[in-house]
Amino acid sequence: MTKIQIFPTSKQIVLNKPIVLATAPKAGQASLLPSNLKIDAKLQKDIQSHLSLAQAKGKRGEVIYLSLAKGIVCVGLGDKDKNENSNLENLRRASALASRALSDQQEAIFAIKTNSAQEVEAIATGIGLGTYKFTKYKTNKKEIKQPLKIANIFASDSVENKKALQKALILINSVNQARDLVNTPPLDLVPNDFALLTKKQFNKAAVKVEILDEKALKAKGFGGIYAVGKGSVHPPRLVRAVYRPAKPKVHLVLVGKGITFDTGGISLKPPGSMITMKADMAGAAAVMQALDAISQLKLNIQVTAYAALAENMPSHTAQRPSDVIKIYGGKTVEVLNTDAEGRLVLADALVRAQEDKPDYLVNVATLTGAASIALGKRTAGVMGNNDDFISRIIKASQIAGESMWHMPIPEEIRAGLDSEIADIANIPPSLSPAGGMLRGAAFLKDFVSDQIPWAHLDIAPNAFNDNSAYGYVVSGGTGISVRTLVELAKELAK
Ligand code: BES
Ligand code: ZN
Ligand code: ZN
Repeated sequence: MTKIQIFPTSKQIVLNKPIVLATAPKAGQASLLPSNLKIDAKLQKDIQSHLSLAQAKGKRGEVIYLSLAKGIVCVGLGDKDKNENSNLENLRRASALASRALSDQQEAIFAIKTNSAQEVEAIATGIGLGTYKFTKYKTNKKEIKQPLKIANIFASDSVENKKALQKALILINSVNQARDLVNTPPLDLVPNDFALLTKKQFNKAAVKVEILDEKALKAKGFGGIYAVGKGSVHPPRLVRAVYRPAKPKVHLVLVGKGITFDTGGISLKPPGSMITMKADMAGAAAVMQALDAISQLKLNIQVTAYAALAENMPSHTAQRPSDVIKIYGGKTVEVLNTDAEGRLVLADALVRAQEDKPDYLVNVATLTGAASIALGKRTAGVMGNNDDFISRIIKASQIAGESMWHMPIPEEIRAGLDSEIADIANIPPSLSPAGGMLRGAAFLKDFVSDQIPWAHLDIAPNAFNDNSAYGYVVSGGTGISVRTLVELAKELAK
């Protein structure tokens, strides 16, 4: 990843490296925006005339590389919006595009004018997330485009700006660690690997980690996690991490779906649908990395995070469609489809999570393919039992620039999950694809008390980007919801 630092505006600057400038539309053309850098009139004129030669418009997402001087990258910010969130989002995206246009370069100066510490934070975030690449398994490193080595944000080195950069770096690191976990091949990230990595990551005073192994899970009655995991030679785990400051304002409990690989089990997936299923632990990765960021930011809120980890494999020891299992706390589930496994491991973890007496409960899961039928591939669904709490999450997602949308859990959906022989079935006996995302949520709702504000984030649409990069969302694991959860925690700590 690119090293990001502030290059103080008070220092003399020699123009011997590429610079990044911003443009915006004006009378149908790109017009150069004021920058933190003093550019002499001649160069300014040169840039402007090259921009018109290139027919630049200054729109969002536009990148123009001018080989003037030592190279100038002009990125379009689009029109200023009334909504400050979207201006910051434009800065993040533009900085990501600029930094990728500068791949293989040693150093560059981001001279986009900044008017606040938030804007410095946004530029840093765009660079840090936009230059991420998962190269661990490439042996010929020369073959890969190197990310820009050093990004200098040309801005005042005020205390606020320095703090903003520090915050951005914490978030960048957490999101990119979530991406690493998602991108790691399932061969190298079985449930126990995830558990041990979490333990190693939180080997510090501020966070405590407990791990339940398959024996403990069985003994304590975690029948969902146990049943999903029993088809694999790599046994399941339940990880619990706790961050508790001295006098926390509230207690937020997070639960993440951690299927390290989802074959579908005996209800086997077709090959095409299986390729991206290493990402089926993205929820677990997100909640753990959010907890890490929250603890580093020292937010005054207690956070407990659970990772419900299992590998969903078909074998002679796997659970069968029509098995009845017992979730932690005693409720029985008729498993009619072993590919609807996420809700089984989550049910266990959600019931356990409520023993921690949360003020707020959030689970994050790549739960249903139906979510992207409804919302496309860049928006996650948010469902729950408390509209006020959900609107706080949506607000947090807007600040973070992570697209999320409130979806309903219609009352009639639950009846479709009635089972002849158990308390609930994990899919309707005759499965229709209509409203699959809502049905997943309705199942989970059965395991959550109405008294606790609870939200379920279905991140199946955007946990893994199997296309090319857009903005600061690179291909592969996206780390979606880490930044929303941290924003939510900030809000709850107020
Ligand atoms: N992990 C999948 C959901 C998924 C699909 C995530 C595509 C990301 C991309 C989940 O376990 C699953 O298989 N769900 C089934 C549910 C069905 C059997 C009710 C699905 O979506 O088909
Ligand atoms: Zn599945
Ligand atoms: Zn799954």
